[in-house]
Amino acid sequence: MITPSNADIIEQTANFVRHTLRDAEGGHDWWHIHRVWTNAKLIAQIESCDTLIIELAALLHDIADSKFHNGDEEIGPATAGEFLKSIAIDEETIIHVQQIIRHMSFKASFNKAVFHSKELAIVQDADRLDAIGAIGIARAFTYGGFKAREIYNPNIPPNLNMTKEEYKSTTAPTINHFYEKLLLLKDKMNTETGKKLAQQRHSFMESYLAQFYSEVH
Ligand code: ADP
Ligand code: NI
Repeated sequence: MITPSNADIIEQTANFVRHTLRDAEGGHDWWHIHRVWTNAKLIAQIESCDTLIIELAALLHDIADSKFHNGDEEIGPATAGEFLKSIAIDEETIIHVQQIIRHMSFKASFNKAVFHSKELAIVQDADRLDAIGAIGIARAFTYGGFKAREIYNPNIPPNLNMTKEEYKSTTAPTINHFYEKLLLLKDKMNTETGKKLAQQRHSFMESYLAQFYSEVH
């Protein structure tokens, strides 16, 4: 029996993800996955880790996001698991990739973390980098538009003490999301490389907000 190389496995996975996400919302589409995959490979060059796990988890992390599936948080890990099984990936790898998908989202940080791995730390940083900076701003307003949210409403202040359920069901203006999530990410980065990259993107969001208010007021 010929065993497929890691490069073949990754190519098959990328094809599956590109196809599955062909109609996805612009902030959670193939190009978001592609950027996270690129960021993850960059961080993985510097930190020691299992690169196959990293690439598979980066590619599959948003394969079925709960916010587009009635809040179902198991549909992502289940879809990823079925696909990996269909291409004959070993059980241990599948379980690790599923654990990463389950634990990497910002929502998941409301739960007490019960799983840690170097690979989770790296893919989570790669995903967080795509939520901040110029790209992060574009993604937030794309998602806000998709959900028909207001851009800004001075009468609705950000809620910094949301429960997980409130976070999942909020309909607040998109500017609030900067305070509720985006500006908090730089202090949540796991890796040294991630921290450095986040700092610059964070400063850019701060200048963006300063300009935003100078135009509004
Ligand atoms: P996760 O899926 O990692 O738990 P989110 O759903 O908060 O976390 O984030 C994914 C991305 O979707 C965010 O970085 C942001 O771009 C966008 N997004 C999610 N919720 C909102 C929101 N309320 N307002 C604007 N953008 C949002
Ligand atoms: Ni993502």
